[in-house]
Amino acid sequence: MRLAVLASGRGSNLLAILEAIARGELDAQVVGVFSDKADAPALVRARDAGIAARSLSPRGFASRVDFDEHLFSQVDAVQPDLIVCAGYMRLISDATVAARTGRMINIHPSLLPDFKGLRTHQQALDAKARVHGASVHYVTPELDGGPVIAQARVAVEAGDDAARLAERVLQREHPLLVATLREISSGRIAWKNNGVRFDGHPLQAPLQLDDCNHLIQELPA
Ligand code: GRF
Repeated sequence: MRLAVLASGRGSNLLAILEAIARGELDAQVVGVFSDKADAPALVRARDAGIAARSLSPRGFASRVDFDEHLFSQVDAVQPDLIVCAGYMRLISDATVAARTGRMINIHPSLLPDFKGLRTHQQALDAKARVHGASVHYVTPELDGGPVIAQARVAVEAGDDAARLAERVLQREHPLLVATLREISSGRIAWKNNGVRFDGHPLQAPLQLDDCNHLIQELPA
């Protein structure tokens, strides 16, 4: 499975993918890393691993559509089977997304549909959520609104602030993303008829990451 990874910042999720591939735990290849930020540490991580990494600044483009056309023509050029948004912080135009439905996933730091958008950890604390976490979903034009594939739950602890909570969620994001990619690569997770299939059946509820970092289907209560 050829992966193109989009990242705007630190790139710890990218690193988790690269390490899983290096350990032989993920049958995939990162064929390109792309960023809207020239100084994104994710680009350095990619280059250190010998992967082609490019940035394109939105400045100088007349519109979002214009920028996306340029960026995604570079993404398409590496012929990815799957595009992984891993901390890519820029909205993507509807047409760009629609043309790639089922071939683009995103990791979002909340249990979707709760807490879309930014500052998700603070949103969770403000809402007095007792359980928070992360989700991997297919990208659709609705921001953070595409079908959820898998989630990892993280308990909110007394005394948590947004930074502490973010750190614990991030530790679960990495195995969540790797496990999801593994099952897409194996074909167990697939996009069909505008929805997520797992083992050939429409997914009724997001898969959950267990303590052994495997994705499991929970039976309805
Ligand atoms: C992650 O929390 C991801 O879910 C969010 O942005 C953060 C990116 O972290 N959308 P990193 O760049 O992968 O370290």
